[in-house]
Amino acid sequence: MEETLSTNHLLGIKNININDINLIFKTADNFKTIINRPIKRVPSLRDITVANIFFENSTRTRVSFELAEKRLSADIVNFSSSSSSVSKGETLIDTVNNILAMKVDMVVMRHPVPGAAIFLANHTKTKVINAGDGTHEHPTQALLDAYSIKEKLGELKGKKIAIIGDILHSRVALSNIFCLKKLGAEVMVCGPATLIPKYIESTGVKVEYNLIKALNWCEVANVLRIQLERQDIKYFPSLREYILQYGINLNTLKKLKKDIVIMHPGPINRGVEITSDVADHHQSIILNQVENGVAIRMAVLYLLAMKNSDNA
Ligand code: CP
Repeated sequence: MEETLSTNHLLGIKNININDINLIFKTADNFKTIINRPIKRVPSLRDITVANIFFENSTRTRVSFELAEKRLSADIVNFSSSSSSVSKGETLIDTVNNILAMKVDMVVMRHPVPGAAIFLANHTKTKVINAGDGTHEHPTQALLDAYSIKEKLGELKGKKIAIIGDILHSRVALSNIFCLKKLGAEVMVCGPATLIPKYIESTGVKVEYNLIKALNWCEVANVLRIQLERQDIKYFPSLREYILQYGINLNTLKKLKKDIVIMHPGPINRGVEITSDVADHHQSIILNQVENGVAIRMAVLYLLAMKNSDNA
């Protein structure tokens, strides 16, 4: 019997299991081979229609899902809140039910509100993929990050990964922590105390406030953007002081006792959390992350589409 996911939706990493993650990785391996061939398209999702509904800005996730869907031969509708009847007061559920009435099979949604994807899955009859819900989760980002580390360093078990920066406002941090811990990695978070939530140690991660100590501890540093758009109060005195304490530049890398792998989910603020010479350094796998995102999203779309469900 063909292996299937334990879930009808991908709402977060917290609620999937290690078999799901390994199945997604194994399926992504196959799709990665396919998308590196001259003919990149396969008929796997022919006659499946996917709606990409984005209530928040996105470059990588949106383009990556759209390419993944096209390479699987799905039909696609793209929807953004600014040009829709949401701006006239229509609710999320009404909006999605109207789209579903046009015979859409799956919904990929980004939304600024934490829990929006769970709410949608509970109140509509469709398969939902969370493309980022506020400060909550960004599951496909965590999957592509873990897949990229595995590709670079081998199995995740026992690997030391530091997540650096604005942990408080980051859905990428939370999904990465759940994913990396499930795969047996050791995880540390590092940043100013004001940007590290108090509950974070309950997820099993170490906390370090000193950047050089964190970088000397880890094999991989996943560097996060300061999310000024989510900060309604000041969490550090000035951006200049943040850069002095937590910005990673070439001198920072040279001070370390070993070479570490540099990652960033994007969008990068060059010169703030990371300088251009580090982002473009041979130790950086930032563009590999983006490349792997398409294969991971193809795997998630394919596995969810193949799963028969009565309640999806
Ligand atoms: N990493 C990520 O989610 O980027 P976008 O906001 O551009 O989709």
